[in-house]
Amino acid sequence: PAASASKINGLSQYRGQRVKVYGWVHRLRRQGKNMMFVVLRDGTGYLQCILSDNLCKTYEALLLTTESSVRIFGTLKEVPEGKSAPGGHELDADYWEIVGRSPAGGVDNVLNVESNSDVMYQNRHLWIRGENMSKILKVRHATIKAFRDHYYDRDYVEVTPPTMVQCQVEGGSTLFKFDYFGEEAYLTQSSQLYLETCIPALGNVYCIAQSYRAESSHTRRHLSEFTHIEGELPFITFDQLLEALEDLVCDTAQRIMDSKYGQLVLDLHPEFKVPQRPFKRMDYREAIAYCKEHDIKKEDGTYFEFGDDIPEAPERKMTDMIGEPILLCRFPKAMKAFYMQPDLADPIVTESVDLLLPNVGEIIGGSMRIYDEKELYAGFKREGISPDNYYWYVDQRKYGTTPHGGYGLGLERYLMWLLNSNNVRETCLYPRTADRCKP
Ligand code: 4AD
Ligand code: MG
Repeated sequence: PAASASKINGLSQYRGQRVKVYGWVHRLRRQGKNMMFVVLRDGTGYLQCILSDNLCKTYEALLLTTESSVRIFGTLKEVPEGKSAPGGHELDADYWEIVGRSPAGGVDNVLNVESNSDVMYQNRHLWIRGENMSKILKVRHATIKAFRDHYYDRDYVEVTPPTMVQCQVEGGSTLFKFDYFGEEAYLTQSSQLYLETCIPALGNVYCIAQSYRAESSHTRRHLSEFTHIEGELPFITFDQLLEALEDLVCDTAQRIMDSKYGQLVLDLHPEFKVPQRPFKRMDYREAIAYCKEHDIKKEDGTYFEFGDDIPEAPERKMTDMIGEPILLCRFPKAMKAFYMQPDLADPIVTESVDLLLPNVGEIIGGSMRIYDEKELYAGFKREGISPDNYYWYVDQRKYGTTPHGGYGLGLERYLMWLLNSNNVRETCLYPRTADRCKP
């Protein structure tokens, strides 16, 4: 008789006892005819199992391949220090059976060190079984919890806005359109407009939802579907918005490092350190000047001028040169979305901010919102947006308007920073890009 099936990460309490474990054959090594070492994986951890004598001479044992699923019974033995075994123990098996076979060679015939990235992503469902990818997905899990806990402790209310919508937020060029029972609708680019409508009901609010962008550009940090963490706060000033961003990034990173998943972050990114507050503040105007002073140029070889969008590559160059988080503030009105509040001291720019982090560049975009109804109509006009579908958003300005602001953070980009990864596709379960919608 054996204890009921145990998960690998909870085995220590059964040392010296007979246990039953389920899992997948992660690694397999045969030593002579009488010994087989199986590293078993069950998602919670890895366990070395020793199959000796008759146990490794059966037909199933001779044909056993990695990635097969198995059930193993045996006695859990402590392994002396110095001999490496995950968890400090190994299973001396006395009985085992196959649950599901796997083809010869396991997944190594499909994926190996020689596979190019297209093959890797084509087989992402098998790739995620690997050690690094499963670490990334676990850190992603811990990160989502860290954000929820951060907001919960600060009394933000979580809402779940719809993702099938009839309003654009971030410009018409990246909208995914579809037919909604005969009406034109879109996959949402951002839940911001809905969050704004919630603040009179709930105060500070946030959501964690999928956003969609029809981005045809191939970069290290653009997906067509990403996980968007957005917050909206009533009765704040622009400076308070900046402080909320510092708090968000530092507190969530600290929570992840303090959690049981902190070690996985260090496994993947040994130099990671929770950043220090306050972050460097830099106006867009200063960034234009910085680029000139440091010879960071446009693709055509000329210098950036006021009004130019600083694209990904030069933005990262600047971020990496400065080497610390930057709150890049006050972008020109002409290059930003219809809803952004102008800076009263300098109305050609807006109270807007991007948070730039080393290795990635922009991970957050935020702003104060126009709260005057007439000004909002002027914004629609400037962007060529018909206000009809936005009646509910305009009502926000009619029924008790207030200064307010908020932001959106791309989870995959945050993870790219946290884990020093070189592409957002790696920090996402099944990435959607212009050239891939499968698996
Ligand atoms: O800067 P963005 O476009 O801002 C908004 O959508 C605002 N409406 C958010 C708000 O104020 N509530 O997007 C916000 C963040 C970016 O900084 C980036 O991290 C991420 O969302 N993001 C993307 N991540 C991956 N792939 C893409 N195509 C992304 N587009 C934006
Ligand atoms: Mg942005």
